[in-house]
Amino acid sequence: MEPLRADWDGVRGAAATLIEEGKADEAKAFVEAFHSRLAQTRVLDPACGTGNFLYVAMARMKELEGEVLDLLVELGDDQYVAELTGHTITPENFLGIEINPRAAAIAQLVLWIGYLQWHFRVNGADRTPPEPILRDVKTIENRDALIEWDDKVAELDDAGEPVTWWDGETMKEHPVTGKKVPDETARVEVYRYVKPRAAKWPKADFIVGNPPFHGARTVRATNPVGYIEAVRQVYDIVPENADFVMFWWHKAAIATANASTVRLGFITTKSITQSFSRAVMASHMADKRRVSIVFAIPNHPWIDEADGADVRVAFTVAASGKQTGRKLEVLIERPIADGAFEVEFAETHGLINPSLRTEVDLQEAKTLRANSDVSSVGFQLTGKGFVVGEELISELSDAERQSFVFSLLGAREIVQTRLQRRVIDVCEVVSEADLRRASPTIYQHLVNSVKPERDVNARKSVREKWWVYGEARNTFRPALKGLASQIVTPLTAKHRVFVVEPVSTRADSTCVCIALDDHYFLGILSSRIHLVWALANGGRLGVGDDPRYLKGECFDPFPFPGDVPEPLKDKIRAEAEALDALRKRVLESHEDLTLTKLYNVLEALREGRPLTDAERDMHDRGLVTLIRQHHDAIDALVAEAYGWPADLSDEEILTRLVALNKERAAEEARGLIRWLRPEYQAPDYKAPVTQTLDLGETAAALPDNVIPWPGSLPEQVSAVQSILTAAATPLAPQDVARAFKGKRAATVRPVLDALAGIGMARRLKDGRYAA
Ligand SMILES: C[S@@+](CC[C@H](N)C(=O)[O-])C[C@H]1O[C@@H](n2cnc3c(N)ncnc32)[C@H](O)[C@@H]1O
Repeated sequence: MEPLRADWDGVRGAAATLIEEGKADEAKAFVEAFHSRLAQTRVLDPACGTGNFLYVAMARMKELEGEVLDLLVELGDDQYVAELTGHTITPENFLGIEINPRAAAIAQLVLWIGYLQWHFRVNGADRTPPEPILRDVKTIENRDALIEWDDKVAELDDAGEPVTWWDGETMKEHPVTGKKVPDETARVEVYRYVKPRAAKWPKADFIVGNPPFHGARTVRATNPVGYIEAVRQVYDIVPENADFVMFWWHKAAIATANASTVRLGFITTKSITQSFSRAVMASHMADKRRVSIVFAIPNHPWIDEADGADVRVAFTVAASGKQTGRKLEVLIERPIADGAFEVEFAETHGLINPSLRTEVDLQEAKTLRANSDVSSVGFQLTGKGFVVGEELISELSDAERQSFVFSLLGAREIVQTRLQRRVIDVCEVVSEADLRRASPTIYQHLVNSVKPERDVNARKSVREKWWVYGEARNTFRPALKGLASQIVTPLTAKHRVFVVEPVSTRADSTCVCIALDDHYFLGILSSRIHLVWALANGGRLGVGDDPRYLKGECFDPFPFPGDVPEPLKDKIRAEAEALDALRKRVLESHEDLTLTKLYNVLEALREGRPLTDAERDMHDRGLVTLIRQHHDAIDALVAEAYGWPADLSDEEILTRLVALNKERAAEEARGLIRWLRPEYQAPDYKAPVTQTLDLGETAAALPDNVIPWPGSLPEQVSAVQSILTAAATPLAPQDVARAFKGKRAATVRPVLDALAGIGMARRLKDGRYAA
C-alpha cells in the first residue's frame, strides 16, 4: 500500500494548495483523477491459493478508496460519487493464478464475499450493489503459473512400456529394521512436457503472494515427474538448488524491472538468503540495479498452512531501479492466541543487498574539495635505468647527488623487504640539453639505460621526454614543496598502514602519497574510522585478495573531523608520532621483522588467538603490544574528534561517514570549505559570512542530484515532502528550492505551507520546515 498511500499524500497536499488558492474545481479534478487511477490498479497473486492475500489487498484498497471519496464529498463533488458505478474497486482489480482447481474456485468466491461485506458495511444492509451482484467475472485462473506446454506425454522405455518412478510419497516398513522406507511399488508415470515455455502473467501494478515453500526435493514429490525438468528448461537462470518460490520471484522481478509492475512483494522461506536463492535476487539487482529491495524482514515466525508447523519466513518487497529500503529485524517475539505472534522490530535503512542486509550506499559519498590536490599515486618511472647503484652515485658531485638522487620507496619496501634503493629524478629538467649541462654523468647513464626502452614506447610524450618519468606527477609535485615529510601507504597490501617518509623520498606507483606533514593527519588516517572507510571503499585485488587504497575512493571523499579542539589534536598528533617512531625503531633494530609480520601478530592479538612460538618471538622483539596500545589510543581519540562513541560497528561508522560527507558536500556547495592545507590549497580563500553566523547547526543535507521541478502539483508535493523527510535537519524554503533545477524559495514555499496545513510538515518559528 505504501506507493498508493504516498501518491495519495501528494494528491491531498496538492488539493489543499489549490483550495487555498481558491481553485476548488482543479482540486476536485486532481482527486477524481487519483480515484480513477486507483480504480484501475490491479493486484496479482500468481499462487493465490484460496485468495487470502488478494482479499486483504482489496480491504486495504477499499479503505483508501473510502478516504478519497470522503474528500470528494467534502469538496462538494457529490455527483462524481453518486455516479461511481462501474469505475470503483471491485473483485475485478484482483487477479490470481492457482493450480489447484478447488482453491481457485474458492479464491474467486472469497473476493466477491469480501466485496459484498464491505459494500453492506459502508452502504447499509438495504442498499444492494449494482446488478448482477455476483458477476461472472473470472479473475482467478486455474492453471500453472510457471509454464505452458503443447502436450504432456508419458515417457516410454525401449520396449514401449511407460517409464515410471517412485511416487515420492508412499512409504513401507522395512522388513528387517522396521523403519519407514520408500515403497518402490508405488509408482507414477514419468511425463515429458512438449514445447514447454514461460507462462504469461496478466499485467498488474502489484504482484504479491506466498508461492509454494519447497526445496528442490519436495517440488519433485508434489508435481508430476518431469515437471520440474520442464520448468528448469524454460528458466535456466534459476539455479538448480534454489527454492521453488524463486521462479515466481524471478518472473515478478522481470515485470518490476520493466516498470510494468510498481512492486513485487513475496513471503518466502527465510532460506531465500542462502546462496542459490540469493543468486536469483542478485541477478536482478546486479550492475545497473534493475530492481532493488525496498522492504525486507529476513526472519519472521510463521505458521505453515499445509501442516500448521512453525516455520521461519522472509518478506521481500522489490521495486525498479536503484533505491534504498527499510529492513525490519525481529528483536522480540511472543506467541499469542491462535498461533499468532506479537513481534517487536528494529528498523534500519539503506541499500538492501541480496543477503537482506542493509548496506551503506558508499556511492553516495562525493569527492570533497577540502581534500583536493594533496594526494597522488606515486611516480611511475617507465625505465629501469632510473634506479641506480653506488657505482654511479659515487661518480656524481655532491651538488648532483643532492639535486638528482633520492631514496626510492615501493609498497614492498613499506611492508616487506627493506631494500635501500636509490633513484634518479631529473623530471624537472626542461630539455635534453639542460640535462647534459647539469649532469653529464646522469645524462650519459640515462641515454644508455632509459632512452632505448623509451624510443619504442607507444606514447609520444614518453618517447620524446625520455629523461622524465612516465608519470612524473607534475600537478602533485608542488604539494610536496616546502614540506619536511609526507605520508605514504601501499596501494595494495594485506594491512593498511600509513608511514611518514621524508619528502625527498620518491614513492613509486605501488604507493599513494599524501602531502600532509603533520602527524595529526597520520593519526586520523591510521584510525579505525579511516581504515574501515578505506577498506569498504577501496575493494580488494589480486590473488591475496588484498585491500587497495584508491585515492579517488578512499582519500578524496573522506570527511576529516571538523572543528577539533587543539588539545585533542595534540594528543592525536603525539600518539601517531609515537606509533611511527616505535615502528621505525623496531624495524631498524631487527632486520628480519617487517610491518606485515608485526601487523599479522597484532591481528592475532585482536582476534584473541593464542600466538605460535614464532609469533610470540616477533611479538616480544617487535613490541607489538605497544603498537597495539598506540592504535587503541588513536582509535579512541579520533572517535572523540568526530564526537562519536568509540565502539561503533563498522556499518555504523560507514553510515556516519557517508552522512558527514553529504553534510560537507552541502557546505562546500554553499562555499564553506574545510581545506586540509588552506595555505597551499586556497591561499586566497575567504570563508562565506554564513560560516561565522552558523550557530552550530549541521548543514542541511540535500539530495545529491538537482532534480527537475515536477510538472504536476501532486508530484511537486510528493517531491518536496520526500526532501523534507530525507533531510537530517529542518530546511528553509531556499534550501528545498536548491534541490530543484532553477527554482527559488517562492516556488516551493506554497507547497511547504500546504504540507504544513494538512499536518504533513511542521513550520518552525524561524521560518524553516521539518517533516
Ligand atoms: C503457500 S500456498 C499460497 C496460499 C495463499 N496465499 C492463500 O491465501 O491461500 C501456495 C499455492 O501455490 C499453488 N501452486 C503450487 N504450484 C503452482 C504452480 N505451478 N502454479 C500455480 N499455483 C501453484 C498451490 O496450490 C498453493 O495453493
